[in-house]
Amino acid sequence: MVTAARLLPLILFLTAVAVGCSAWEMNIRLPTERLAYGGGEAVVAPIIHALRPLLGSGRQLAARAGVACDSWRLGVEAHNVIDWRTVPAECEGYIGHYMLGEHYRRDFAVVVDEAVAYAETLKLAGNGKEIWVFDIDETSLSNLPYYAKHGFGATPYNATSFREYVAEGSAPALPETRRLYHRLLELGVKPVFLTGRTEDQRTITVTNLHRQGFSGWEKLLLKPAVHATGELQGSAVEYKSGERQKLQDAGFIIVGNIGDQWSDILGAPEGARTFKLPDPLYYIG
Ligand SMILES: *[C@@H]1O[C@H](CO)[C@@H](O)[C@H](O)[C@H]1NC(C)=O
Repeated sequence: MVTAARLLPLILFLTAVAVGCSAWEMNIRLPTERLAYGGGEAVVAPIIHALRPLLGSGRQLAARAGVACDSWRLGVEAHNVIDWRTVPAECEGYIGHYMLGEHYRRDFAVVVDEAVAYAETLKLAGNGKEIWVFDIDETSLSNLPYYAKHGFGATPYNATSFREYVAEGSAPALPETRRLYHRLLELGVKPVFLTGRTEDQRTITVTNLHRQGFSGWEKLLLKPAVHATGELQGSAVEYKSGERQKLQDAGFIIVGNIGDQWSDILGAPEGARTFKLPDPLYYIG
């Protein structure tokens, strides 16, 4: 009896631990099962167990020849890895899977959902002066059809072939950005495109944007054509912040600013709030 009486607290303790553990396991599993962002498509999320952290970590895809491609991509998106010229050769397959699979679009939708939610909270003056700055490439239009044929950023940038691709005017819209664009028009915020594309590409850019369901913008700001040849190439941060300053000087209020490059959103005046879209394909400083 004495032994049983002594054991009882131990049994109760162990039961409590077991119950506690399973509750805890539930807690760590639930977030992974709620990962399904974007379009209501079913997303198969790996079940993560605290004691087996390697399971579902994407290790096989990510680690090649000493480069962890998912860590590299995170470094890029957080702007810790800067001034890089090409995707590490070992990561071409990883970036290809990321871009063509659901992951890129899901990451993209998270940003746009935040932007839409923010826009809907704005107390707008409705005076026609409130604008939202949009970048074009990898923000409003996708050049993935080009990059899929050119090593997903792992082969050096070729200005000639890229300009040939742009000249086709066939770049598809990024539908999430188009959704933000139309919501802003409904709210009375005017879209302004600010792009590193050059004036000689204006006509085809307008055509491409119209084909893909973008219209009714306030301004489409392109770089002077002299930049097309690579001469007088200042930094993108200087160029874009300078253009935003001119907008502000003209009385516009930049309520939001969205782009895939940090150079789209760095440099005063940035805009009341900025949104960084994913882009592991190339870096523009
Ligand atoms: C760049 O693209 C052009 C046009 O497609 C091609 O003629 C040229 O060989 C390419 N250059 C390199 C270095 O691949």
